[in-house]
Amino acid sequence: MDAKAKFELLKRFYADVENKHSLNGRYSKKTRIGFFHSGLFAASNIDGINVGIEQLLADGLVNQSGWFLDAGCGDGRVTALTAGVHRIPSIGIEYDREVFDFGGAVIKMLKEYSMINGTPLVFTRGDFTKDRTYRRAGVMFEDIATVFNYIDNHEDIAAKIAKQSPRGTIFILEDFPWIPITSGIREFEGLTYVRTIPPDSNSKLRRCLHVYRK
Ligand SMILES: C[S@@+](CC[C@H](N)C(=O)[O-])C[C@H]1O[C@@H](n2cnc3c(N)ncnc32)[C@H](O)[C@@H]1O
Repeated sequence: MDAKAKFELLKRFYADVENKHSLNGRYSKKTRIGFFHSGLFAASNIDGINVGIEQLLADGLVNQSGWFLDAGCGDGRVTALTAGVHRIPSIGIEYDREVFDFGGAVIKMLKEYSMINGTPLVFTRGDFTKDRTYRRAGVMFEDIATVFNYIDNHEDIAAKIAKQSPRGTIFILEDFPWIPITSGIREFEGLTYVRTIPPDSNSKLRRCLHVYRK
């Protein structure tokens, strides 16, 4: 199956999952936002992320030779896309137990249907700011070449990259450029802004991807 066909299947799969599950009524299928004791879970638009990853692969800013981390991976859709469709070894870290259990079950199903095969995909529960989370998962933070975060404790992960990651590590921040309080490009000490991938025109929330490099 080629990457395009795999992507379409993955998209349908997550749409189906969203229609059938509500995480015990706490995840709204309409707004795609869930409230949990540890915070907010909102899922990325898989189309927008796919467009961004395709562009970054074409630019050479992202490649298949280093690990991709989704810091706060929710139901795992971003890592399913990066590992399953784009063959980038991927790790997803999520600290909310309920969201993690749900995402883990989805990833297990995707593996059983051979939607993710041949490329490592590690889905783990823990705090992405803590080294022990990576040690337990068997992937060192320093071996991660690309870090993705959908605006949730982004300052913490940006600071960890600035402190610990090798030079050249890429940080992709999914952000809402139209909210007045967040308008403009955020700055992170130790990271250099590279470019912005504008929102996918199909996405109602019009989220964009800001790209930084250590
Ligand atoms: C906005 S959701 C994004 C989900 C997923 N990345 C996506 O794009 O579909 C952010 C998630 O990050 C998780 N999170 C926030 N801080 C975290 C931390 N320090 N360690 C692990 N997970 C965290 C939250 O529980 C939430 O599920």
